[in-house]
Amino acid sequence: MNYRHLFHAGNFADVFKHVLLVRLLRALQRKDKGFAYLETHAGPGRYDLYAPQAQKSGEYRDGIARVWDDASGNEGVDDYLTAVRADNPDGKLRYYPGSPRIARHFLRAQDRMYLAELPPEACAELKALFARDKQVHVQCVDGYAALKAWLPPPERRGLVLIDPPYEHPEEWERLRRALIFSVGRWPQGTYAIWYPLKVGTPLARFKSDVIAEDMRNILCAELAVWPRDTPFRLNGCGMLIYNPPWQLDTQLPALLEPLANRLGRGSGGQVHVEWLVPE
Ligand SMILES: C[S@@+](CC[C@H](N)C(=O)[O-])C[C@H]1O[C@@H](n2cnc3c(N)ncnc32)[C@H](O)[C@@H]1O
Repeated sequence: MNYRHLFHAGNFADVFKHVLLVRLLRALQRKDKGFAYLETHAGPGRYDLYAPQAQKSGEYRDGIARVWDDASGNEGVDDYLTAVRADNPDGKLRYYPGSPRIARHFLRAQDRMYLAELPPEACAELKALFARDKQVHVQCVDGYAALKAWLPPPERRGLVLIDPPYEHPEEWERLRRALIFSVGRWPQGTYAIWYPLKVGTPLARFKSDVIAEDMRNILCAELAVWPRDTPFRLNGCGMLIYNPPWQLDTQLPALLEPLANRLGRGSGGQVHVEWLVPE
């Protein structure tokens, strides 16, 4: 297990994922009843973009650095940026909040957060970040095993984010099994699974395997920043959303297209939203 998200923190994929995450959390806030936010691959929670790893890859420069000063009035992007700015109170971009930190920004007093992160070093950082926070529960365990213990959460409403590193080809099969298990255990939950758009990945097979299961109401949103057939690089990414909030499908183009314009490279970014399985 060598994956270190610090190399990738704040890249275009993080921006896409976290803008969507905020939109999903906002939808849960529409009701007063508390919700649970559960995350299987939480990471350390916050990243110092001045660290040598982030500086070496420079990925954030084509991600958050292109969006940081956005003044276009895109409500969803503004909402996300409030969480990023909260970690950079002096107005200079230095710290990039990971998904747990962003989610925490949108938790109300009645909501809870359950996080899993396996590598001990990253998990220790995550625990330290939320050490005195009674609304946050951190476990240094395998995220897929955590799902078995967590679901259904006591709140009975909420969101599960699954954001694995995709270091091993079997990740796709683990994901498929995790989704089937989780939906079986807690069909009312919303599930968001991040995935890479990269030549040579079994994404098409994964999607057709999911379609073949007895599940409905699955939306996919994708952002490509490079042409999809460019070899050897991350060309874009997507989010598979089971039980998306009402009307998300029609709202996503307006949310994501301005982002694609900012984040696209070469001939520009492209957004694609499709129902993998309709309601
Ligand atoms: C893509 S990063 C997560 C980034 C985070 N979700 C965010 O958006 O800020 C994936 C994380 O999963 C962790 N990880 C790898 N295998 C894991 C496993 N089996 N269970 C839980 N975490 C794991 C890695 O250490 C890494 O921090």
